[in-house]
Amino acid sequence: MHRLVFRFPEMDEQPTPIVIVVLGPPGAGKGTQSSLLADLMRVPHISIGALLRSYARDDSKVGLRLRAMMALGQLVPDTLVLEVLATRISEPDYARGLILDGFPRTLGQAELLERGLLKSPFQANNLGDNLVALHLRVQRSTIVGRLSGRRICSRCSATYHLETQPPRVNGECDFDGSALTVREDDRKATVLKRLHIYEQETAPILRHYTENASLLEVDGEQPKENIAHEIVTAIQGMLRISIAGAKNVQSTLEDNG
Ligand code: AP5
Repeated sequence: MHRLVFRFPEMDEQPTPIVIVVLGPPGAGKGTQSSLLADLMRVPHISIGALLRSYARDDSKVGLRLRAMMALGQLVPDTLVLEVLATRISEPDYARGLILDGFPRTLGQAELLERGLLKSPFQANNLGDNLVALHLRVQRSTIVGRLSGRRICSRCSATYHLETQPPRVNGECDFDGSALTVREDDRKATVLKRLHIYEQETAPILRHYTENASLLEVDGEQPKENIAHEIVTAIQGMLRISIAGAKNVQSTLEDNG
C-alpha cells in the first residue's frame, strides 16, 4: 500500500523522491503535462509509450512484434513493458523523483509498483512508497479531435497539434526540422480500440488509487497552461513542497515550444 507523505521540505532538499503517476485516456494530455511537470520539478519524464515506440523502430523480432501490437492499439505484454521500464530506471537520474507516463495501465501493473518495482541500486527507498496519482479527465469528443490532429516528430518525438499547437514551419519539427508524422495508432479505428482497452483495463486503477493513495482529479479540457498551473498548485499544497518552476509555468511552456 502506498504511503503518501503530506509534509515535505523544499523540493531542493527533498530527502525522498516522489513518483507522479499520470493517468488518463489516450489523448488526455498525459505526455504534454508530464513533460511540463518534469521541467518544472526537474525530474525525468518516463513515457513507457515513447520508450516502446523507440524499441519498435528496430527491425529485430521484438521490434516487429511491438510495432504490430502497438499499431493495433493493444497493450504490450508485461514482460516487455517491465524490461523496458527496468532498463530505464537503471539510469541514476531520478534522485528527486520521476514522472511516470503510461504506467501502470492495469491493476496488475499497479500492484507491481507497490511491490517494489521501482527499487533500484541508486535509491535507498522504494520509489513507489511516495506516489501521487494524477487523473486527467477529458470527454471522448475531445480525445478524437486531439488525436486526429496530433503530429509527432519522426526523430525526437516532440508532439504537435495541427490546430492547438502547430509547428512554426508546416510539417517540420521546431527542434530539429525533421518531418512530422501521424502516429500509426492515431487512426480512428485504432483510437476507438485504445479507448475501449482504457475503459476495461486502465480505468479501474483510478478507484484503486482513490482507495489506496491520493488521486488528484484534474479537468483536462482546459488550456494546457491552466492544467499545468492547477497541477503544480495542487501538488505543492498536498505535499507541502515548493516546486522551483511553479511561478513560471507560462515561460516553461514557451521554452518547450
Ligand atoms: P502511449 O504513448 O502512452 O499512448 P496513450 O496512453 O494512448 O496516450 P497518448 O500518447 O495517445 O496521449 P497523451 O495522453 O499522452 O496525450 P498528448 O499529451 O500526446 O502508449 C502507446 C501504446 O504503447 C499503448 O497503446 C500500448 O500499446 C503501449 N503501452 C504503453 N504503456 C503500456 C503499458 N504500461 N502496458 C502495456 N502497453 C503499454 O496530447 C494529445 C494531443 O492533444 C497532442 O497533439 C497535444 O498537442 C494535444 N493537447 C494536449 N493537451 C492539450 C490541451 N490541454 N488542449 C488542447 N490540446 C492539447
